[in-house]
Amino acid sequence: MITKDFQLKPNTARIQNDIETLAKLVDLTKPGWTRRPFTRWYEESREWLKNEMTKYGLEVSIDSASNLIGRIPGKEEGLAPIMIGSHTDTVMGGGRFDGIIGVVAGLEIARRIKEENIQLRHPLEIVDFTAEEPSEFGISTIGSRGMVNNLTDDMLQRKDPSGLILKEGIRQMGGHPERIRQQARNEGDVALYLELHIEQGPVLEQNNKKLGVVTGIVGIQRYRVIVEGRPNHAGTTPMNMRLDALPGASELILALENICNETYSEQVVGTVGKLNVEPNGSNVIPGRVVFDLEIRSLETELMEQIMNRLIERGQSIESLRGLSISFDCLSKSEPIRVNSRVIDTVKKGCEQTAETITLPSGAGHDANQLAKIAPIGMIFVPSKDGRSHCPEEWTSYEDVALGVEALARSLILFDN
Ligand code: GLV
Ligand code: MN
Ligand code: MN
Repeated sequence: MITKDFQLKPNTARIQNDIETLAKLVDLTKPGWTRRPFTRWYEESREWLKNEMTKYGLEVSIDSASNLIGRIPGKEEGLAPIMIGSHTDTVMGGGRFDGIIGVVAGLEIARRIKEENIQLRHPLEIVDFTAEEPSEFGISTIGSRGMVNNLTDDMLQRKDPSGLILKEGIRQMGGHPERIRQQARNEGDVALYLELHIEQGPVLEQNNKKLGVVTGIVGIQRYRVIVEGRPNHAGTTPMNMRLDALPGASELILALENICNETYSEQVVGTVGKLNVEPNGSNVIPGRVVFDLEIRSLETELMEQIMNRLIERGQSIESLRGLSISFDCLSKSEPIRVNSRVIDTVKKGCEQTAETITLPSGAGHDANQLAKIAPIGMIFVPSKDGRSHCPEEWTSYEDVALGVEALARSLILFDN
């Protein structure tokens, strides 16, 4: 039942101001709202956040994986913290809300707690996780992986196209990569992880509901595929004497679409969103194509089956076309199902705030990583026209504020 009175009601104007302030700290030479991790704009937004946390009396620190953390102590000695977090990095050409509202939600709840002079039983930690989106290192959720000891040495040694080693990027952001393993949090170190996020899909809007309680989050498997052929003159090389890498890559990409379009026990989606053709000349037969593919589902088994079928398909394309095709796994994240007791409590917090439904998440989140060590709960607010990862991404500030209120109510229910 919706109840109007709530001591921690968020300040909508302040939330709007936070989102608009962060929307200015972006790379203006890039489309939409672009704030890639390990850039000047990312550091500036971190600086702003840090100042805002300090202004309201939070204890601010940066952990070894370079996550920014603001903490309010709890009144009961020895209780593990409740954590609220998300990310402030964006995809290239992204929007103003993905990840950002989750961090702003944490900040606003902390500010309201301070203003109302409330003391929770649990310590509260507000986290801006480093680099949640796929980075130039081919890895996503870097900070949350680090926090739960799921960032391997191999990942830390990866280089981005400019030659920066991930380890050094983390150091630049104030982290200590050599201490990540030792300082990682283990089961029991976090009492509960909560995240507010935009839905990034059309379900809430279509159902005319303001809040969604997340029941599960897809796992994501990402691969880099290299198709090697032979570059040659586009005019003088007869059709039957070519080793053209691009039609081979195209066949494989179409196979991914066809395989994912089949009917399974769970929905499966497959995407190739990044592709490089070499040498990329209009009169040169492509000698090499490199592309990144990802598969998502709530069932790990399904993703494995689909990948196996695709690799088999690659082998037949190789032999039919005389090409060489390799698949290099960039990362895998596990799907998660949210524990039903957490769903019930978050739902209660949401239902006190606005009309609510439950739904799974097709997007990955830092919550996938935190689920390795703690129970997690997530709340979605509507995305206009179901758009996200594009400049058109939009959620009204009133809807964001409803999400913040629902998150704060859930926090209080859990704390008690
Ligand atoms: C994160 O935004 C993802 O789902 O790729
Ligand atoms: Mn995203
Ligand atoms: Mn996100």
